[in-house]
Amino acid sequence: MSSPHTLPEGRFRAALESARRESTTDADWESFQARFGAEFPRLRSLFHRIYGPGSDDELLQVVLDAATSWQDRPADLKALDADRAMTSDWFSSHRMLGGVCYVGLYAGSLARLRERIPYFRELGLTYLHLMPLFLAPEENSDGGYAVSSYRNVDPALGTMDELADLARELRESGIALVVDFIFNHTSDEHEWARRAVAGDPDYRDFYWIYPDRDMPDAYERTVREIFPDDHPGSFVQLEDGRWIWATFHSFQWDLNYGNPRVFRAMAGEMLYLANQGVDIVRMDAVAFIWKQLGTTCESLPEAHLLLRAFNAVCRLAAPSLLFKSEAIVHPDEVVQYIDPGECQLSYNPLQMALIWNSLATREVSLLAQALERRHDIPEGTAWVNYVRSHDDIGWTFSDEDAAEFGIDGYDHRRFLNAFYVDRFPGSFARGVPFQDNPRTGDCRISGTTASLAGLEAAAIPGLDQGDDTSAAADGAADTAADAAVARILLAHSIILSTGGIPLLYLGDEVGQLNDYSYLDDPAKAGDSRWVGRPVYPAEAYAQRNDPTTHAGAVFTGLTRLIQVRKHTPEFAGGRLVPFHTRNPHVLGYQRPGRPDSRSDSRSDSRESIVVVFANFADTAQEITAETLSGLPESALELITGERELLRPGLTLEPHGVRWYRL
Ligand code: GLC
Ligand code: GLC
Repeated sequence: MSSPHTLPEGRFRAALESARRESTTDADWESFQARFGAEFPRLRSLFHRIYGPGSDDELLQVVLDAATSWQDRPADLKALDADRAMTSDWFSSHRMLGGVCYVGLYAGSLARLRERIPYFRELGLTYLHLMPLFLAPEENSDGGYAVSSYRNVDPALGTMDELADLARELRESGIALVVDFIFNHTSDEHEWARRAVAGDPDYRDFYWIYPDRDMPDAYERTVREIFPDDHPGSFVQLEDGRWIWATFHSFQWDLNYGNPRVFRAMAGEMLYLANQGVDIVRMDAVAFIWKQLGTTCESLPEAHLLLRAFNAVCRLAAPSLLFKSEAIVHPDEVVQYIDPGECQLSYNPLQMALIWNSLATREVSLLAQALERRHDIPEGTAWVNYVRSHDDIGWTFSDEDAAEFGIDGYDHRRFLNAFYVDRFPGSFARGVPFQDNPRTGDCRISGTTASLAGLEAAAIPGLDQGDDTSAAADGAADTAADAAVARILLAHSIILSTGGIPLLYLGDEVGQLNDYSYLDDPAKAGDSRWVGRPVYPAEAYAQRNDPTTHAGAVFTGLTRLIQVRKHTPEFAGGRLVPFHTRNPHVLGYQRPGRPDSRSDSRSDSRESIVVVFANFADTAQEITAETLSGLPESALELITGERELLRPGLTLEPHGVRWYRL
């Protein structure tokens, strides 16, 4: 018996029947019904927990939208759904390699981006994240993260049809398309936003709007400032004097998920994107989607319920669509989003930050601890490992973890910030501070991989070197450049071997440097993240096969690692076992697996292990014979392809990396 507020499941089914189109085949309809049967209890229980048991009418609308969307779904995508249902762990393969770029900066337009597909194949990409490409305010849109319409592509970049065509073409090349689902907020130019401000009763409650400072003040007592350079606190004032919630920029207005109509509206936009051929949606700013007075308004339990409800809606209408969580928060919180029923994929901000930490300190304790303790995630999920993104680097390690090594989190972050913005004597890095907040001591770092790793300092020596072009000075610059190249390769070797999808920021594979021209653009000058978003570095790409150039040295080194990874099935999945090198500068870990992917065919079920060593010091480092005494006398080193002796102990050159198959 259902309570007076709830509808019996039969009514949902009857309503669904009325949504069936004549043209929909029995098989097609039955597959939807089967998924409805499997998912409905979960979806309904989530919906009731979020919106109360009286929310069935709203839920019915969501389910009807899903049925419509399924019937709109193109046949090739339905075939893909069926395919992926059989290979649900496709994203865990060692052949996976991700790339991310801005369509405009990297290619100019969607049409021109198609011309880069041959290069993506050359590089070995299987996953391409196109940064936000939707209609957005012209002057400043936070790089597209302020969306004015999810159903229109920014006309400067192309059209939705072109995006759908591109998705198809990428798929034919074995590349999955990833786009952002920016669902925490819209731009202030979105139709919903305009109507909300105008007082349209259907949209009034889509955002958080208050007549005076009472509620904003109350919320701000416990909420963290995210973009303090843009505006203090979390609210901005409308022209008419009212206040509206804007966590990020003043033109990015947070949606009110306390309103079930917001959920329905955004679920509709998500399914629309899925039907364009998007394989993975990057769930932007997941931590912020639920607000509750008296809390930090980050990572609240309802945020997870909402993501799970979106996940359940996908299973109904776009069953192969995957979610990637963008939670750049404390590691205890990051993992809470990772679950087959929530987000199957997640950025790994801890590993990213700790790679940079190890490069600065030349010590691996925190990174080794993170791999030992925080790397394991559930079956059916994977990390997206990256060296840097389009955003700032924040030092999101846990203070408690650091304290175990006697490291004080606050002081250490200050050191890292100083080091990466070149305010620390001897630093190789040329980063730029982001949201430097003297009041809270908070600061993050912007920059390209190469500039942060020392290539900018080496390639463009400081003024203090004057015009000295003597051989000695050249030699020193070379050494610094070599070290920078080695650091870039070392950093990438970690993301390529720890397990998960490695994600390259395109252009970094040819060593692109910081781009300071953003300072000349008033819409960008206040946001240092633009320093790390250069336009397509054509010159560097032209040099990529010449290893005597910096670009070529990075590219040939990196593509070698990529090729080796693709032939190393032990790197599939996420299982990782620590290996203690007893040298504070050398990271070690083991990746158990099978040497040959065909060996799942029982005939050869031997386990093999790849042992990884990575030296974060600028000097040669030893691993003693005693430390290696449990390993075979010699092993194949996969990067060089040579058999090497392990028994006598090992010497790793500065920033040296070894991948041994045992
Ligand atoms: C995400 C994006 C970032 C953007 C923010 C607001 O964190 O990565 O670039 O500023 O969301 O949408
Ligand atoms: C988003 C922003 C980033 C900020 C983070 C805070 O990822 O892009 O700058 O540090 O949110 O959680």
